[in-house]
Amino acid sequence: MSDQPVAGSGLAAAMAIVAPRRFGTLVTHGATEWPSAVPCVYAVIPSRRDDGAAIVIALDDKAKSVPVYDLARVRNVLARGAAMLMVSDETEDWDRLAWTRVRGPAGILEPGAEGHAAAIAALRDKYPQYASHDLEHAPLIRIQPDHGRSWSASGDPVDPLAERRPSDLTSIVRGRRSVRAFRPDPVPDDAIRRAITAAGWAPSPHGTQPWRFVVLQSRERRAELAEAMSTTWRAQLALDSADPQEIERRVENSRDRLVTPAVLVLLCRYLGDAHLYPDPDRAAAEADMATQSLGAAAQNFLLSIYADGLDAGWMCAPLFCPELIVETLGLDPSLEPHAFFPVGYAARDPRRRPRRDPGELIAAWL
Ligand SMILES: Cc1cc2nc3c(=O)[nH]c(=O)nc-3n(C[C@H](O)[C@H](O)[C@H](O)COP(=O)(O)O)c2cc1C
Repeated sequence: MSDQPVAGSGLAAAMAIVAPRRFGTLVTHGATEWPSAVPCVYAVIPSRRDDGAAIVIALDDKAKSVPVYDLARVRNVLARGAAMLMVSDETEDWDRLAWTRVRGPAGILEPGAEGHAAAIAALRDKYPQYASHDLEHAPLIRIQPDHGRSWSASGDPVDPLAERRPSDLTSIVRGRRSVRAFRPDPVPDDAIRRAITAAGWAPSPHGTQPWRFVVLQSRERRAELAEAMSTTWRAQLALDSADPQEIERRVENSRDRLVTPAVLVLLCRYLGDAHLYPDPDRAAAEADMATQSLGAAAQNFLLSIYADGLDAGWMCAPLFCPELIVETLGLDPSLEPHAFFPVGYAARDPRRRPRRDPGELIAAWL
């Protein structure tokens, strides 16, 4: 491991790494005997003084054993007027260890002060969990970084696009989200292979693994596919809306969703290894089981993509024109297209849909 800062270090590169990530460590010292280092969530917002970006960290009272003004980090910031934020990649694969830290003048932003409301909006936008927290009546820590530094064990610049994701199951399950707007940047082939490998570990009827994946990297092929599918889209949209402009807008939107992401993955049902039964009931159940198993494979795929710092969406469009897709892509006719997964780097954090209380989901516990 070299101890050199990687190429591209410096404030702008460091902030590009820090901004999309979700967890960091806030380090302060000054008023208290010991330095204070606390895990935190944060948002990056444009600076009020037009000199770059600022970092804001909430200090809501929830679950705090001392009033916010007695917290070591608040006392330190008030005493020293400076703070540091560090993000890091911690993994047993030491070749992938990396950290980035930014530091600079810091202060406490009081409720009602200029920028307080915008900071809360940015925090809530990034972390839907904050929707139910009373941030309005609590101060915030605001850092104006003027130094940034990155380090990676490999010596490669830390990829600012790949958001480092937590590795515990609960965080991955809750963090996975359906992304509908992507940046066009390419994604590593390995991440797609890892996701398809993860899909392969899903439960399946008799272990038949009745799913096949088609990886569509070529944007030309996807544009052709979108063109072929647009007839179906127009016909279906005409049933919902009489407004031709609205129909064209939505067709264009669907086309973008197929073409813009780095990769589009098509999930197909494959019944070539399905068990054959003489009676229609068991034959139908076998096909249903394969479809259920597609959901399990899809979830493994999506969780792996998310854990790798990428995002994916789910589009049911193939269900409405499977033969057209097989024909346009020249696929084996035994493949039954079921879903598209656009994969890439999220253009922005999507809005999440609220979840039902588990009590509502348990129909009976007998
Ligand atoms: C079978 C299935 C089909 C879906 N089809 C679409 C779709 O066509 N377009 C879309 O935007 N999202 C689609 N979704 C994604 C859901 O809208 C999304 O999972 C849901 O709103 C929950 O949001 P989350 O995935 O961010 O947690 C589909 C999800 C499933 C399971």
